[in-house]
Amino acid sequence: MPLPLLIAIDGPAASGKGTLARRLADYFHLAHLDTGLTYRAVAHEMLRRGWPLDDAEHAVDAAGQVDLTALDKHALSAHAVADAASKVAVIPEVRRVLVDKQRAFAAQEGGAVIDGRDIGTVVCPDAEVKLFVTASAEVRAGRRLRDIESRGGHAELDEILDDIRRRDERDMGRADSPLRPATDAHLLDTSEMSIEAAFQAARAIVDDALAKR
Ligand code: DC
Repeated sequence: MPLPLLIAIDGPAASGKGTLARRLADYFHLAHLDTGLTYRAVAHEMLRRGWPLDDAEHAVDAAGQVDLTALDKHALSAHAVADAASKVAVIPEVRRVLVDKQRAFAAQEGGAVIDGRDIGTVVCPDAEVKLFVTASAEVRAGRRLRDIESRGGHAELDEILDDIRRRDERDMGRADSPLRPATDAHLLDTSEMSIEAAFQAARAIVDDALAKR
């Protein structure tokens, strides 16, 4: 039985970490969890119920109800949900409840690829491979705009850029588990890289770690 392989991927909004995580999970035959969806699920429930986003008691209840096997990516993709997610994510008790669930997922047989903001630092500090994926805010805004347009939508680049900067500030500035690279994370700046090039670079880092076992 091979050792389980645990890969932690962190990075800011629209850095491409999700795409990278999915590709690595496919390639190495690992389960994948996008932890952003767990915060989005809490935010979605708060919005649906009309509860204020700083209502810690209800937010903790909503976090307790989150079922990792039933996260509906499509229902949670709205921009308003993403923004609300970064607000409920500052509540330490919400993080504690979700982190427990995320750790249980990480402990599954065979291992996993887990992506988010605090995976290498807090959720899985012992992960065998840690990647910190970045790209400039301008590049991330451009990618998000192309993504929206490719689905027939319309948006303004300036507004997307403002939004990304606001979310970066909130995610990096919060007291509990702020977004930052773990000291032993491999930094991957994808500003000038295609998705394929980023995947190849990440794959090489994982292969290297496996060769050192
Ligand atoms: O990755 P995403 O855009 O789906 O994440 C939405 C928000 O959830 C993000 O702005 C901050 C929060 N989040 C977090 O605090 N910790 C994580 N591990 C993942 C997401």
